[in-house]
Amino acid sequence: MTDIGFLNDRFMSLEEVKISPDDRGFQFGDGVYEVVMVYEGKPCLLQEHLARLEHSAQGIRLTLPYTPAEWEQRILEGVKRCGYQHCKVYIQVTRGIVPRDHLFPGQCSPTIFMSFREMTPLDENLRQRGVKVITVPDIRWGRCDIKSLNLLPNVLGKQQAKEAGAFEAIFIREGVVTEGTSCNVMIVRSGVIHTPESNHHILEGVTRKILLDLAKKEGLSVCERTIKAKELFEVDEIFLAGTTIEVMPVVAIDEKPVGTGQPGPTSQQLSASYQDFLSRLV
Ligand code: PDD
Repeated sequence: MTDIGFLNDRFMSLEEVKISPDDRGFQFGDGVYEVVMVYEGKPCLLQEHLARLEHSAQGIRLTLPYTPAEWEQRILEGVKRCGYQHCKVYIQVTRGIVPRDHLFPGQCSPTIFMSFREMTPLDENLRQRGVKVITVPDIRWGRCDIKSLNLLPNVLGKQQAKEAGAFEAIFIREGVVTEGTSCNVMIVRSGVIHTPESNHHILEGVTRKILLDLAKKEGLSVCERTIKAKELFEVDEIFLAGTTIEVMPVVAIDEKPVGTGQPGPTSQQLSASYQDFLSRLV
């Protein structure tokens, strides 16, 4: 079992992967990406991730080189080659290699990179105990629905969170909650789950969608709407949702307790439902 790479239609060791400094991903962040988890050898919600990759690519006017079936075939091959039952697949497509110029290149083919790495499981104590978050201004561009390589505000936000002893930073744009630096945000008020509506200011998370569907199936009310930042300090529960963290209860925000200061019942219920959903996928 070993971590492996894939570059422009060829599998190789990660050490072998060499990317030119003229790659537009390196020069401009001119590309898009996805992160897919593999459980028991099966890529989780792959079609949903591939559909979003297509959405992101269209958003930056980049034509993907593979159809979903061609992606799937290569991803399954990568999973087989790395040999891990549980692993993390990173997919990145950039506009290609060409001497630096802001304009789109006339002739150039996209750079396709994937890595297949062993999954380091999240510390379950975190989920049991819940995590702290901070709020930070959302200084990102106006197309956060595109999963682009331009992640500097996300990097800065996450680092600020770490330095404040927190797990994640929640972005606030003009007084309104958008999302975490690498996850979506949900709140619970009087038993109803609320989450920011999908628009250009958030990434429409694959996990977010599954959780909303699961909640509805379980008879919980859900409401997608604008959430004011100040509401975060009045709610019963907050939880984070994303591919790598699944469901993560938040117990403190900007050093103030959320609800009782313990993971709340709805977060715990949905976390269990999501685990059950994942176990039924494999
Ligand atoms: N991030 N919002 C942002 C800004 C994200 O970066 C992510 C995922 C999500 C949640 O999306 P999903 O449920 O589809 O994973 C929301 C990935 C995991 C990352 O950048 O590593």
